[in-house]
Amino acid sequence: MLLIKNGILVNTGSKNPLQQVDILVSGKKIVKIGKNLTATKAQLINAKGRIITAGLIDLHTHLRDPGFTSKETIASGSAAAALGGFTTIVAMPNTQPRMDTAEKIKSFLARAKSEGVVNILTTGNLTQNGEGKLLTNFAALKKAGVKILTDDGCGDSHPQDLEVEKKLIAAAKKVKLPVMMHAEDSEMKCNTHLHAGVVAKKLGIRGSSAECETVMIERVLELLRKNPTPYHFTHLSAAGSVDLIRVAKKRGLPITADTTPHHLTLTEKAILDSGTLAKVNPPLRSEAHRKALIAGVKSGVIDAIATDHAPHLAEEKNCEFTKAAVGLVGLETAFAVLYTDLVKRKLLTLPQLIEKLTTAPAKILKLKAGEIKVGKEADITIWDIETAYKIDKTKFASKGRNTPWNGKKVFGKATDVIVGGKIVVKAGKLV
Ligand code: DOR
Ligand code: ZN
Repeated sequence: MLLIKNGILVNTGSKNPLQQVDILVSGKKIVKIGKNLTATKAQLINAKGRIITAGLIDLHTHLRDPGFTSKETIASGSAAAALGGFTTIVAMPNTQPRMDTAEKIKSFLARAKSEGVVNILTTGNLTQNGEGKLLTNFAALKKAGVKILTDDGCGDSHPQDLEVEKKLIAAAKKVKLPVMMHAEDSEMKCNTHLHAGVVAKKLGIRGSSAECETVMIERVLELLRKNPTPYHFTHLSAAGSVDLIRVAKKRGLPITADTTPHHLTLTEKAILDSGTLAKVNPPLRSEAHRKALIAGVKSGVIDAIATDHAPHLAEEKNCEFTKAAVGLVGLETAFAVLYTDLVKRKLLTLPQLIEKLTTAPAKILKLKAGEIKVGKEADITIWDIETAYKIDKTKFASKGRNTPWNGKKVFGKATDVIVGGKIVVKAGKLV
């Protein structure tokens, strides 16, 4: 048994969202929540002055395993997740081989269970080898344990052919699996991964416009109107995307969306300070886009925040901008960056932020996780939000050190993390 005493529980759904409580865990489950709880022989965590939330859930983690294990492994990526306060992550399919058959999914999930520190779920490819042409066997992928279908990071990152899109919508609807879209028109995009804005102009590099994202979303919304099925738009980067999602939700389409910590806190100007470390896809855009994303998160048009944790080797980033790999590592910095730049600046409340990182992703994936309630699995994170510290990439558990936030002064550290009743992080260190 485990007894957590006197922490402030962030209850996202309640009118009185911050209350001091004790939480009793027995085996894998939360068995009691209340005041002045006692239990003989229970292991004790004194959480006085600290915040308690459900373990965070990341909808979008590039684990790189199998195939690119010099960048990350199930073990290193899930350790990074735990240190960042995440108790559940969803692995992206752009591994080698791709996640496009039931056999590969089963073998990945078996390894994830034995080698992972947190709960690891997986996406499955929409198309064979992620090539955007022939659909995978959705029913078989679902049976093997896939929670959501996407081609993110594979080929064009999403099928470009409308006929394929129609087929995948119908097939996903039939097996009741949600689809996740990386929205990017492969003809309009230019591979520089730079927003067509002031920085692109300054550097003399051709940029890619926000329409590159919005045209893809528009196309799919049109098809979903005729054949509605749960559809998730990931890592939104553009104001126009938020507008499209708002209108489509008002019309009742069963769609959801996320954006990332980097799109909410950085703009294209980060490239001037951080160079290739701020090269991500979709690209960081202007302040106006960033503000629209924050407003989208606040109003609920954007349901969730996901990291798009994308580890790369140092040599893939220490090169010319146009040649550098795309992506940044986010698991170990997500909460601190969001808490420091959004909550402390009063752009979001703490319960709003926690909802975006727990209950919202759980709902999208139809998981029973994401809440602290009696009878639920004990996936719990305890946070120190009072002590300032500097992000130090040399201390990351992730093999990826590609962060634009190294040295940034932040607040918000996961001190204790509990996964299924088991302590995996204690006093900020992996157990
Ligand atoms: O920044 C990104 N990195 N965006 C993607 O879509 C792919 C990802 C990766 O796999 O590195
Ligand atoms: Zn993507």
